[in-house]
Amino acid sequence: MPSPPLAKLRILLGVSGGIAAYKAAELVRRLRDAGAVVRVVLTANAARFVTPLTFQALSGQPVRSGLWDESAEAALGHIELARWAQRILVAPASANTLARLAHGMADDLLATVCLASTAPLAIAPAMNLRMWAHAATQANVETLRSRGVAILGPADGPMAEPESGPGRLLEPERIVAALAALHGPKPLAGRRVLVSAGPTCEDIDPVRFIGNRSSGRMGFAIARAAVEQGATVHLVAGPVHLPTPAGVAREDVRSARAMRDAVMRQIPQCDIFIAAAAVGDYRPTEIAAHKLKKSGKALVLELTENPDIVAQVAALKKRPFVAGFAAETQNVEKHARTKLVRKGLDLIAANRVGNGVGFDADDNELTLIWPGGEEHLPRADKLQLAHALLARIGALRAKSAKRRR
Ligand code: C5P
Repeated sequence: MPSPPLAKLRILLGVSGGIAAYKAAELVRRLRDAGAVVRVVLTANAARFVTPLTFQALSGQPVRSGLWDESAEAALGHIELARWAQRILVAPASANTLARLAHGMADDLLATVCLASTAPLAIAPAMNLRMWAHAATQANVETLRSRGVAILGPADGPMAEPESGPGRLLEPERIVAALAALHGPKPLAGRRVLVSAGPTCEDIDPVRFIGNRSSGRMGFAIARAAVEQGATVHLVAGPVHLPTPAGVAREDVRSARAMRDAVMRQIPQCDIFIAAAAVGDYRPTEIAAHKLKKSGKALVLELTENPDIVAQVAALKKRPFVAGFAAETQNVEKHARTKLVRKGLDLIAANRVGNGVGFDADDNELTLIWPGGEEHLPRADKLQLAHALLARIGALRAKSAKRRR
């Protein structure tokens, strides 16, 4: 039996105030299922939402809250607690706790332990969507990120109040998966990965464009998974509404030609190129200088073919490992195989789009095809699929390195 992903890892779970605090109870259970030893520290506000007793029962360990509890300090002082922790996870992190941590405050037990510990810190924010979007919160998140803190989430969706948007606590199982990935092996350490993601937009006039339904989520998940596996990652993204995964260098582009130029600039510095972008095949031959007016007649637009970025990279003499995607609505694998050969790729990830999976969904299902083999990855979270895709790329690169020796 393989050991669980967080086997014997001593995790200090900091729970701060907010309605999502109840989900931290489930999180304790899942962390323990993953093998971790969990001690919980509550902020005063969190203790108003869930009682310390709940966490004590679930963690099997004493729960701490105040900095001034003499008997608790005598048993395990806050500095020992900071030393005990091999990882600190703050979930949920309220806007207030995020701000306190970003500014190095030590005004309660949790903040003090975070300051006194050298353990890697991961934070799963949860708050009202406007509090999350506020420039002050975003600046605090950036400060924490730049210090190497892993920011897990938040997720997008309905809130306790009748509104919906980013600010929800990531589901406990996804928090555990993210921690496991951070803690796990780093097979891509020292490797440089370039990812293209999202759609491209080809302008017709100053207000209209030709685009497509790619959300960029698969490419962003690949970028994040590559960082989690230890790679240095550069992400070239078309116009999408997605936050940059922690540790990823992101470059935003709009058109296929701008994406080609950005990719080509990075290619000499990269070991693996994964083309997950849905690049527009055509662009208007001319971009109208002013907004086109209705004329009462049919409008004929002349389109010019765009460069095929992934094929151009694959045709280079000195080139990285090249993986592409084939999003198809029918005969998925047949079309993918043809593309693998025509574009000269090392691997292609084929997926069906248009039936609830693929574009704009959290889940996907892929068939990886390479010269000499294939692997089906059943429907799963895009981040999980991204890890599996990178594992396959790692195995193929190792095999070809062996052949070259
Ligand atoms: O030909 P098709 O667009 O289906 O090929 C999909 C694959 O090729 C994807 O990996 C996509 O990123 C890449 N591609 C590209 N440049 C294009 C068109 C597609 O890199 N102009």
